[in-house]
Amino acid sequence: MRLLIFSILICLAYAKIREISVLKSENNVLDTGFNDGKGYRPNWRDLDKRPLPEWYDRAKIGIFLHWGVYAVPSFGSEWFWMNWKTNVTKYVDFMDKNYPPNFTYQQFAPMFTAEFFDPAAWAQLFAEAGAKYLVLTSKHHEGFTLFPSKRSFSWNAVDVGPKRDLVGELSAAVRKRGLKFGVYHSLYEWFNPIYLQDKNASFETHTFVDTKLWPDLKQIIHDYKPSVIWSDGDWEAPDDYWRSTDLLAWLYNNSPVREEVVVNDRWGKDIPGHHGDFFNHADRFNPGKLLDHKWENAFTVDKVSWGYRRNMKIGEIMSDSQLLFQVVSTVSCGGNALINVGPTKEGTIIPVFQERLLFLGKWLAINGEAIYDSSPWFSQNDTVNGKVWYTCTKENYNATHPTYPPSANDKILAIYAIALEWPKDNWLTLGDITSYLHRGTYQVELLGNKGVYLTWKISNGKVAIQLPDKATVRSKVAWTLKFTLK
Ligand SMILES: *[C@@H]1O[C@H](CO)[C@@H](O)[C@H](O)[C@H]1NC(C)=O
Ligand SMILES: *[C@@H]1O[C@H](CO)[C@@H](O)[C@H](O)[C@H]1NC(C)=O
Ligand SMILES: *[C@@H]1O[C@H](CO)[C@@H](O)[C@H](O)[C@H]1NC(C)=O
Ligand SMILES: *[C@@H]1O[C@H](CO)[C@@H](O)[C@H](O)[C@H]1NC(C)=O
Ligand SMILES: *[C@@H]1O[C@H](CO)[C@@H](O)[C@H](O)[C@H]1NC(C)=O
Repeated sequence: MRLLIFSILICLAYAKIREISVLKSENNVLDTGFNDGKGYRPNWRDLDKRPLPEWYDRAKIGIFLHWGVYAVPSFGSEWFWMNWKTNVTKYVDFMDKNYPPNFTYQQFAPMFTAEFFDPAAWAQLFAEAGAKYLVLTSKHHEGFTLFPSKRSFSWNAVDVGPKRDLVGELSAAVRKRGLKFGVYHSLYEWFNPIYLQDKNASFETHTFVDTKLWPDLKQIIHDYKPSVIWSDGDWEAPDDYWRSTDLLAWLYNNSPVREEVVVNDRWGKDIPGHHGDFFNHADRFNPGKLLDHKWENAFTVDKVSWGYRRNMKIGEIMSDSQLLFQVVSTVSCGGNALINVGPTKEGTIIPVFQERLLFLGKWLAINGEAIYDSSPWFSQNDTVNGKVWYTCTKENYNATHPTYPPSANDKILAIYAIALEWPKDNWLTLGDITSYLHRGTYQVELLGNKGVYLTWKISNGKVAIQLPDKATVRSKVAWTLKFTLK
């Protein structure tokens, strides 16, 4: 009898321990997977040692989608709710004019219908645009999740609005097209009462982080296996509050995406530009010079907003040449281009965005060999002709220093010079490539006109290359010269 009672007690105790450990593994990210000197410790010094997964540097071109409840008012920007609630006149007037009194932001959610959302058609568009990865807002600062978060009851796309798992459907569709799938994920939520409680406690409590933030992100990682975690909304609190290094150690050591995942740099106050697999710095960051850490220029085709705005004007939309300037200058300086468009509440990508993206795809179909898999060259824009940007391809990929110019050991396969302006007299003048042509060992052709070798003349350290008749040239807006050994 005593033995029986004893056994029952042991069983109960064991069940309790199991229950606790299951809860722990579901809700806790403090299990960083670091043990016995193996793996990454949860500190920046250790995490910063991780080599960049090669696919990301090779990809160069991504598409960014800001999609959420803000697509319903589609006015101003994706910051609609915050701007309205902090009494920015334009937003208050818009609501007074167009919605009944006491209308709440939550009432927009059922109007986020997505009835035309066709993930396969979107994936085809992104593939035709030449993109190699997609980043979708799984949750913006409004807190609405595009996946069925287990902790966002009635404030997610399956419970209200589309009634569909948008993250799930789009991730499957883009992978079918051979693109990598990534998620944008906002750390903070403007009006989440649990977050606001932590904030009110000077971020000395971590209730939001432990019970909402990381459990949600773990759900995303387990269910959709994203290749990119694009973090944002970090700036109000230090990384200690967010427990960022714990999460990243787990991500790199123990998560199902540890081999290929890449993360950006928005993991707490003062972290951007210092830590992360790649740096975004600020929005639309494009330094115009080579950086020694992998970076990404996240920019918008609608120059004003990330989320869709119904009252966009044509002059606010990036032209083809502005788009190519961003892509070319970014890649030349070691960056990736992450190009944002905002889908509508109906689930469409408006034709003017499609047109820009398809233009890019057509340009890349001719000039892509100067972009994908390329590395920075010794000079970025030419010192004589600053509208010309260089890249090169190398025999071996340098995983520890992907954005460095070629080293002495590198074998360069080709040098590319991308001209963003066609010279009036058809002679393109360059400074930085002159010594290569001087040697007489190189040949020059224009991509799209394969096998037609161009002539040049050298004087005063400059080379003038005679371009073909512009009427016979296939590219529009930007043109690539390819330099190879004879
Ligand atoms: C915005 O205006 C409303 C109504 O006048 C007021 O109750 C509220 O406190 C204001 N909010 C802020 C953040 O100023
Ligand atoms: C708006 O809400 C206030 C406060 O609850 C209430 O007094 C008022 O009658 C409401 N207005 C309308 C038009 O429903
Ligand atoms: C904020 O914190 C103070 C104490 O520091 C407390 O008195 C107050 O009730 C808190 N407010 C909220 C909304 O939690
Ligand atoms: C190279 O590009 C940078 C950034 O766009 C610009 O500031 C600089 O003037 C350019 N160089 C030349 C020689 O035009
Ligand atoms: C990578 O680049 C660095 C910096 O240029 C260089 O020191 C290193 O030897 C390179 N590694 C390889 C494998 O080429």
